[in-house]
Amino acid sequence: MMHRGLFQAVFLTLAVVLIAPHAFAQQDVIEKRQKLMKGNGADAKAIKGALESKDYATIETKAKDIGNNMDKVNDLFPKGSTSDKSRALPAIWEKWDDFSKHPAKVKKAANDVADAAKAKDDAALPAKVKALGEACGACHKNYRAEEKKG
Ligand code: HEC
Repeated sequence: MMHRGLFQAVFLTLAVVLIAPHAFAQQDVIEKRQKLMKGNGADAKAIKGALESKDYATIETKAKDIGNNMDKVNDLFPKGSTSDKSRALPAIWEKWDDFSKHPAKVKKAANDVADAAKAKDDAALPAKVKALGEACGACHKNYRAEEKKG
């Protein structure tokens, strides 16, 4: 009986030591990427507003911010990092080759926006901003659930 109790205690300790940090780490990375994505959303909104007021400096800054964010995206989706608070779909890891190419496409679209803003290219900007939004949407379409699960 003593041995059994000891075994259980050791087992439980191991379970807590090995499994709990894994669960916390997953939750942590989910929160980090949701925060990053909220930042992208705020940047995109600011760009649209700045387009109306022809505030080229803001457009350029926010587009560059999105570009920098895109460098971090793939690292924030470690295999299987999902939960009932996450809208990440399993397709992310089933089609990682495709998923992992999207951030670079968005970065390219964001750089195009920044360049057009720098050149104060009124004629080109609306289409470039639209293309940026579509590049974000191309990833969401296949890899983000409509609503939070659960
Ligand atoms: C590589 C794929 C990918 C790209 C590129 C991408 N997103 Fe996302 N985005 C996701 C996924 C997946 C989620 C859901 C994350 C989660 O809940 O764990 C998400 C979530 C979001 C959210 C909701 C955040 C929250 O939790 O409230 C916003 C807003 C968002 N993205 C905006 C953007 C914008 C704007 C861009 C482009 C500038 C962009 N995203 C580019 C995959 C992507």
